[in-house]
Amino acid sequence: MSHESDLSRIGISLPKNLLDKFDEILECRGYSSRSEGIRDAIRNYITYYKWMSDVTGERQGIITMVYDHEHRGLLQVLTEIQHDYLDVIQSSLHSHVSHDRCVEIILLRGDGKVIKDIAERLMSQKGVESVKLTTIPIEE
Ligand code: NI
Repeated sequence: MSHESDLSRIGISLPKNLLDKFDEILECRGYSSRSEGIRDAIRNYITYYKWMSDVTGERQGIITMVYDHEHRGLLQVLTEIQHDYLDVIQSSLHSHVSHDRCVEIILLRGDGKVIKDIAERLMSQKGVESVKLTTIPIEE
């Protein structure tokens, strides 16, 4: 059995701007080392994934998505994805954040697994900066 105290060393390659942003956050938050920040980020990633796997049953969902509307073909793809789930998507609200960024809030109601699939499909598109999913279980 392995414990968090058994350390493995890994080497990773990252785009410079991503690492710069990460380091900036680590500095603001007062992390003593980059390794500690990366460990925390990985723990959060795992927690988020587990949380996503637990989204089941009838849910009310809210997706908040930020994207670059000038990214080639993205608007078309986002529209097509949303039209694939006519029965789940209740409404959406769009606001223009800046010259090329938009925020969209999508209100959904339906099976948690389907809501999660929609969020993941949106998230995986190039040009999509962030997707946040919140769900509320519907009590019987
Ligand atoms: Ni816009």
